[in-house]
Amino acid sequence: MRKRVLLGITGGISAYKSPTIASRLKQAGVDVHVVMTDAATKFITPLTLETVSGNRVITDMFSREFPYEVEHISLAKSSDLVLIAPATANFIGKVANGIADDMLSTTVMASKGIKVYAPAMNTGMITDDFYLKNVEALKQQGAYFIESDEGRLACGDSGKGRLPDPMKIVEYVLNLLKIKPDYQGKRVLVTAGATIEAIDGVRFLSNFSSGKMGIAIADEAYKRGADVTLVCGRVSVNVPDYIKRIDVVSTTDLLNTVLQEEPNNDIFIMAAAPADYQPVNVCENKIKSDMLTLELKKTPDVAAHLGKIKGDKRLVVFSAETENLVDNAKKKLIKKNADLVVANDVTLDGAGFGTDTNIVTIIDKEGNITDYPKLPKTEVANVILDSIIKL
Ligand SMILES: Cc1cc2nc3c(=O)[nH]c(=O)nc-3n(C[C@H](O)[C@H](O)[C@H](O)COP(=O)(O)O)c2cc1C
Repeated sequence: MRKRVLLGITGGISAYKSPTIASRLKQAGVDVHVVMTDAATKFITPLTLETVSGNRVITDMFSREFPYEVEHISLAKSSDLVLIAPATANFIGKVANGIADDMLSTTVMASKGIKVYAPAMNTGMITDDFYLKNVEALKQQGAYFIESDEGRLACGDSGKGRLPDPMKIVEYVLNLLKIKPDYQGKRVLVTAGATIEAIDGVRFLSNFSSGKMGIAIADEAYKRGADVTLVCGRVSVNVPDYIKRIDVVSTTDLLNTVLQEEPNNDIFIMAAAPADYQPVNVCENKIKSDMLTLELKKTPDVAAHLGKIKGDKRLVVFSAETENLVDNAKKKLIKKNADLVVANDVTLDGAGFGTDTNIVTIIDKEGNITDYPKLPKTEVANVILDSIIKL
């Protein structure tokens, strides 16, 4: 289930950093809803936040431009965490003293979930006794405070009061939500779907791959912070539009694209199902004969090519088997010089092509074998990503 964060923005100069916070949280798979105080809208526009969060931004408690429900209560109830960044001295003072006079303060008071404040203000304000008492009162209620940084402030003073780097705030929040950003800085290439090989002008050879497994891996890697490239054959499900996607048709296209992208990536997850054979001769026009014998040859072995040049980079291959699962998968691991093989018995119910679940056995090059039960493909994706991290 996707986590939901309510990002409250108050009227401080560092509100210009809030879109980065919203955008990075969204990249981590969080559903971000933004509420801005009136003062916040003087520093940054709701339109910017609406664009990066992908959700409507609320600024006015008395606006009637939404379906009937008591919105501050429903937002408060449905959010896993409320983050106020930046949090002004004024806002902290109001909440600590039970004042609820706008949409954000009302929502924060109504929320009984995790509350995180990232204060930012002038050094004089942040050391003020009233402010410190207010912070203490909120901490007593269980609220979290992210320490502000020291440095040059917008007002010209130097000292404590700067809003911390947006990534520090995002990591703090993801940590509280138990979302792992462990793929930050990693470049992951995933292949997905089926390749197709033309027979003639209108027909082709392919297989039943839906692309679900590869797309789930690309999506989960993205949510864990990776820079993802999806090399995509024929797929029957949607690819999220935030994933960088390169479309390919044949296995030779797949090979060429993967080799071209190789220098830009560190981890390769070969979840595509290449058409293993291609016709020796392709007829440009539609074949009309009553009897047809196709002569086929093997298509290029993409994973083996990659295995030869990858050096220290990580290569994960898939092994769809109908018998001798572990033996065949181990042979494939060695033959392709892979680091990890994800094997599945496609004859089992709930495994293989087109299903929303998979039953996999993961074998690493040290010979460790781990069997997993039937899991949704998104969970299998995370199990694979966890196994790569362990390497
Ligand atoms: C240019 C400018 C910058 C400001 N920066 C801050 C700030 O960084 N932190 C803060 O607590 N207040 C800051 N203020 C004051 C707040 O905007 C003011 O207290 C306002 O009432 C806050 O409203 P809100 O808490 O409802 O958003 C700033 C005001 C101005 C005019």
